[in-house]
Amino acid sequence: MNKLINLELKDNIVYLNYEKRKYFIKVINEDLVQIAQIEAINYKSYAVEKDISVDVDVKVENNCILFSNKKIIVNDDFLLEMYEDDVLVSKDKTNDFCNDREQNELLELEGHKVSDNDHYKFMVSKVLNDNDFVYGLGDKTGFLNKRCYEYINWNSDLPDPQVDSFKSLYKSIPFFIVKGNKTYGIFLDNTYKSVFNFGQFKSDSLYFGSTDGLLNYYYFFGEIRGIINNYTLLTGRYSLPQRRFLGYHQCRWSYATKDEVLALAENCKKYNIPLEFIHLDIDYMERYKVFTTSDERFPNIEQMIEELKAKGIKIICIIDPGVKAEEGYFVYDEGIEDGHFATVNGEVYHNAVWPGDSVFPQFTLSKTRKWWGGLTKKLTDLGVCGIWNDMNEPASFNGPLPLDVEFKSDDRLMYHKEVHNIYGHLMAEATYKGIKENTGLRPFVITRACYAGSQRYTTAWTGDNHSIWAHLEMAIPQIANLGLSGMPFVGTDIGGFGSDTTKELLLRWVQVGIFSPLCRNHSAAGTRRQEPWTFDDETAKIYSKFVHLRYKLVPYLYDLLVEHTKTGLPVNRPLVLNYHNDENTFNLNDEFMLGDNILVAPIVKIGQTRRMVYLPEGKWVHYDSHSVYEGSQYIIVEAKLDECPIFVKYNSIIPTYTNTNIENPEEVVFECYGDCGQYLHYQDNGLDFNYEDGEYNLYKVSFNNDNANIELVHNGYQQYKSIKTKVIK
Ligand code: GLC
Repeated sequence: MNKLINLELKDNIVYLNYEKRKYFIKVINEDLVQIAQIEAINYKSYAVEKDISVDVDVKVENNCILFSNKKIIVNDDFLLEMYEDDVLVSKDKTNDFCNDREQNELLELEGHKVSDNDHYKFMVSKVLNDNDFVYGLGDKTGFLNKRCYEYINWNSDLPDPQVDSFKSLYKSIPFFIVKGNKTYGIFLDNTYKSVFNFGQFKSDSLYFGSTDGLLNYYYFFGEIRGIINNYTLLTGRYSLPQRRFLGYHQCRWSYATKDEVLALAENCKKYNIPLEFIHLDIDYMERYKVFTTSDERFPNIEQMIEELKAKGIKIICIIDPGVKAEEGYFVYDEGIEDGHFATVNGEVYHNAVWPGDSVFPQFTLSKTRKWWGGLTKKLTDLGVCGIWNDMNEPASFNGPLPLDVEFKSDDRLMYHKEVHNIYGHLMAEATYKGIKENTGLRPFVITRACYAGSQRYTTAWTGDNHSIWAHLEMAIPQIANLGLSGMPFVGTDIGGFGSDTTKELLLRWVQVGIFSPLCRNHSAAGTRRQEPWTFDDETAKIYSKFVHLRYKLVPYLYDLLVEHTKTGLPVNRPLVLNYHNDENTFNLNDEFMLGDNILVAPIVKIGQTRRMVYLPEGKWVHYDSHSVYEGSQYIIVEAKLDECPIFVKYNSIIPTYTNTNIENPEEVVFECYGDCGQYLHYQDNGLDFNYEDGEYNLYKVSFNNDNANIELVHNGYQQYKSIKTKVIK
């Protein structure tokens, strides 16, 4: 028993003195508190950059903390009960500092091999009610509702098909939302290997804990939207991308020569597939040495980039953190000279990745991040538009990096154990800042690994999925949960990365993929090629139709990203986010929404040409036929291979472009659905940061039957040449 001695209030922090330990609860705003052991008071977080506390009137009465409509009852053993309007929101079951260390020693004495990274230093457990659903946790396998599953946060590069029982993928975002009679969110700001169990063992409790570091979590009150708003206020939001990054991206490991890349561009043109970006995978480099290009395979790459640019196509290049250990190679030499690489016992640490024997930058050190950011100039000077960060879990081929690999940081020596889950995050920060400094434009970074808050610097893709139907199905909850976890600009490899795709799977996948902010077809070397024309003309034609639809919707997607900067809400949304009182949406895995106005119910099962669709309250307009359906019901719709069931909310407005020039769109058409509606549309140069100084336009669009009205409510940028409204009947 750890007896509570007393509570002391100082400003917005309540210090909790117990016989054995001290804790604190800091009231950050009316819906957000930080709950931590006292040692966390000066913790330098990688997710939370600044103190966002506002003035809140806090009182302490006996063992209760009172503020706004909230009450926290603090009990012995640091067991907390959280109330909102006097209704219980959550209740702790246990709050233990585990004795695993001692147990480990005993087990080892008996001859067992115990990894120090598999035992938990502390564990917090809370009551899980029968009707609780769990969302978030970034990118994990399985379904929208995470209840009954256990997950581990330890960024992992595992090539096998990712089934529901996989506990770790590439990203660690220790944030989740529990929705029941009352809703709450928890963000455990701890970068060590951590566990989250949502009633897998005991159906009446959830628990989370970490192998090391501090008990330090944030507790969010409110409904899902408010929780996401506060979570992204705390950890940051994705800032506006260049608009063209919302175009179509084509990739394959690997387009290995200049001729192959140019032929790809020609084929896209021939088959009428609008193309914004070609991604160059590792083969563009000289022997996989980062920040080099292969003269043999890509002679005069700068000229190739120019040539493509003239056709409206830009280049994004992959960069891995592993630096080839080779004297005479400038990145290695500079890194050795200036102490940029991680060490073991003071000696530079080696492992193997694509280039063979490699060393790893210590992104924990600000001077190393600056150096790496500076290296990106090698690529941006060639005209490269964005950087795709891969293998940054960090992945390795000669066994995992030992937990005691040393990473210097600005104020202390850190070990791999603590750094592992933030390695990709810090690499993204270095890359983002480097590109921004080189170009002055809005940087484009894609990452595979990340931590909470990475959205400040980067977009993400979900890593190496497979060309299997289960992974197309999983793509929907995967993207949804990433969005609920603060990452709005994400996507899956369209068509699937590993294994061989089929015509039907590719076409059904593009019908999902065009609605993800990151819209990229990517596949592994050695698999069946999956550029659409490699099947037949029909595939190319259907594929082209959907990529054109994507381009049409770019202004809507861009508006949703503007909304994200203000509210933290994602672009792709599970229906529960918009209809949190409708239980039919609580674990709906095969439908999603784009913002508030478009509902997509794609076909994600082999052989299906008809499916059941749940329409929430209100009325819905079938996008292709314009038929109107009443909501709050399941309907059955047909969807042949060239069709995807899309519904627009009745009484809403969708901004659309009429051609594929998304860099400099000249015309916008506001499609008006239903009898009346209102919409706010944002327009800027889609390129740089001038919008921060007011260089943008805001259009307030409204319609009532056939009468539409457009008002320019902020005028800071040149207007479209043509602005139209179209009432859809
Ligand atoms: C990793 C990436 C994949 C890439 C490959 C080669 O597996 O996840 O996208 O194509 O490495 O660079």
